[in-house]
Amino acid sequence: MTAPAPVTVRVPAKVNVQLAVGGRRPDGFHDLANVFLAVGLYDEVTVTPADTLRITCEGPDAALVPLDRTNLAARAALALAERHGRAPDVHIHIRKDIPVAGGMAGGSADGAGALLACDALWGTAASREELLAICAELGSDVPFSLVGGAALGRGRGELLTPLEVGGVFHWVFAAADGGLSTPAVYGEFDRLTQDVSVPDPEPSAALLAALRAGDVTALAGALANDLQPAALSLRPSLAETLAAGTEAGALAALVSGSGPTTAFLAKDAASAGRIAGALTASGHCRTARTAVSPAPGATVL
Ligand code: C5P
Repeated sequence: MTAPAPVTVRVPAKVNVQLAVGGRRPDGFHDLANVFLAVGLYDEVTVTPADTLRITCEGPDAALVPLDRTNLAARAALALAERHGRAPDVHIHIRKDIPVAGGMAGGSADGAGALLACDALWGTAASREELLAICAELGSDVPFSLVGGAALGRGRGELLTPLEVGGVFHWVFAAADGGLSTPAVYGEFDRLTQDVSVPDPEPSAALLAALRAGDVTALAGALANDLQPAALSLRPSLAETLAAGTEAGALAALVSGSGPTTAFLAKDAASAGRIAGALTASGHCRTARTAVSPAPGATVL
């Protein structure tokens, strides 16, 4: 019998156009109103039959990616194999283009990608519900990496409702030197809000309407990230990056998720190109890349 052909899955990064954070729950997570938008920066995950589970990674940030069983891609393969009573013997190769530990769900993308790729390689034919349940076990952002597009995430971010997007939005993403740990940023959020009463997180009607209408000016006015003060507190230099992008013509600037990647919303593709050039030249970031949204979720190539 010939070995099955390798399977490659392409998975997008995300930006949170609204990240409303509630108080810490008894389980340690925070309730969210999390409006995810998938953006056209992608990792590619390729799985090939192997004697034992192993991971390799290529790309500019490859040295920062763990190649052991803490990698969400490995955990995804293990979870699917266990549910279907088979060995997780697969070589997972990640072509990494999404910034590592950057607040753009790069690790989550690899988890969702490996899950979909192993399902296809092994012929497990898991239902969409089963795949989404495994994604939710792997991490709060992983279900969104599977579905892509735009969605409102409630609970800790894993309970998704798809959202309509009425146009294409142009973004610039500035990667910072070094990552930020998501638990550390949530911990800083707790510290900064310890003396105030944190309201229940609610999606913004103005933001959802701007997405539905494809109205970039309205979206720029409605972008909001409750984790931004915490990310800036841990990494004060991000304020200069945000200011540099705004000076270069961005309609709005914000920290992407828990950071430290910063996101800039541009009027159009030409403006995005100019902002990326200015940010790169400013020395306030490691790299600046343009990308459009929405982007499709995890897709077998
Ligand atoms: O779900 P995930 O493993 O990505 O979460 C990583 C960490 O981020 C959690 O351990 C928790 O500290 C924090 N988190 C949170 N509330 C959420 C999502 C994540 O406090 N809704």
